[in-house]
Amino acid sequence: MSTDILFRPISINGMSLRNRIVMAPMTRVFATDEGVPTPSMAEYYKRRAAGEVGLIVTEGVFVDHPSAGYDRNIPALSTPAQLEGWRQVTRAVHGAQGKIAAQLWHVGRQRTIRKAPYPDAPTLSSGDVRSRIPSSSGTPFARPRAMTFDEIHETHAAFARSAAMAREDGFDGVEVHGAHGYLVDQFLWEGANNRTDEYGGSLTSRMRFAVELVSAIRKAVGPDFPILFRFSQWKADDYHARIAESPEDLGIVLNALREAGVDSFHASQRDHAEVSFPPSPLNLAGWAEKLTGLPAISVGKVALSGEFTSTFRGEESEPRPLDEVLAQMERGDYSLIAVGRALIGDPELPKKLREGRFHDLVPFRRDMLQTLD
Ligand SMILES: Cc1cc2nc3c(=O)[nH]c(=O)nc-3n(C[C@H](O)[C@H](O)[C@H](O)COP(=O)(O)O)c2cc1C
Repeated sequence: MSTDILFRPISINGMSLRNRIVMAPMTRVFATDEGVPTPSMAEYYKRRAAGEVGLIVTEGVFVDHPSAGYDRNIPALSTPAQLEGWRQVTRAVHGAQGKIAAQLWHVGRQRTIRKAPYPDAPTLSSGDVRSRIPSSSGTPFARPRAMTFDEIHETHAAFARSAAMAREDGFDGVEVHGAHGYLVDQFLWEGANNRTDEYGGSLTSRMRFAVELVSAIRKAVGPDFPILFRFSQWKADDYHARIAESPEDLGIVLNALREAGVDSFHASQRDHAEVSFPPSPLNLAGWAEKLTGLPAISVGKVALSGEFTSTFRGEESEPRPLDEVLAQMERGDYSLIAVGRALIGDPELPKKLREGRFHDLVPFRRDMLQTLD
């Protein structure tokens, strides 16, 4: 099957991309103890830009708020040293003709404090509902406290500050991490949001936090800076959870976010081939693009046989052809495709696909997560 569809240039709010292959955000935990990106991280991203990735979305980056993070070796966008570290990353990526967006992250209740950058800061969430699962380290998550109105506004301001810093620092855009059951998603999802004020209850109240957040970022970065928004139905602590039971509900949320300033939706699925609202053949990104008219990014199990959550459980994946992705994109379902683990396996994946060298791809192996190559 021809891969030409992947190599048609596209522009998102003035950000021109050479192709439609996006590097999915992947937390690697290789920053210094002060959350500063290192020269090895700059090289890691530069290799993917040199391998012709259209847009790199960074690993999740903690925003400028003491409650945002759970691990001091995950980078943040807050201190002068962190900004300088990221400046080296954006320079390196631009030097290889790449584009890079920072994924802005606040973990909310999915927070352990043992390695947190600010262990004394409170664990804040939409409500006071504790996560049902242990963290990946096996340490229990801290008990969350529902944010006060002041804390909600402070958190919006923290996202806006980090987004403005990203722009100053040379990033080409930002992505709000609104997926997988982290803070923004804790407001969207009724399983974590037990508020009774205007930020909880009905769908339109639950989405208020995210909509105000995007408005605050838009105000801080100006009209001509791309804002991507990542969302998902599934949560790290509940694979069967849904924020929208119907396309109508999904349209209400996504269009309110679009009006607040989102330029592109990144619809996170563990498997891009899964349809979202049967009998329609559309996956979640297909629905996002159809409902909003904005270019959407799909993701999940591209070029691999197993889901990324299986990798964390110890399974290996086999390489897999891209037929389903190409068919979905040929049909016009969605505009861009994000690739996670397969780009850890082979930084040159886009270049090799462009040259028709699928069989030269270096397959992803689980042990590759131990190093930053
Ligand atoms: C090591 C690793 C770290 C990840 N960290 C993040 C993250 O920081 N933010 C995020 O939104 N998703 C994260 N994800 C999910 C990926 O962005 C992606 O959605 C997932 O890996 C599925 O794509 P794949 O099947 O191509 O790997 C991570 C995945 C992996 C494997």
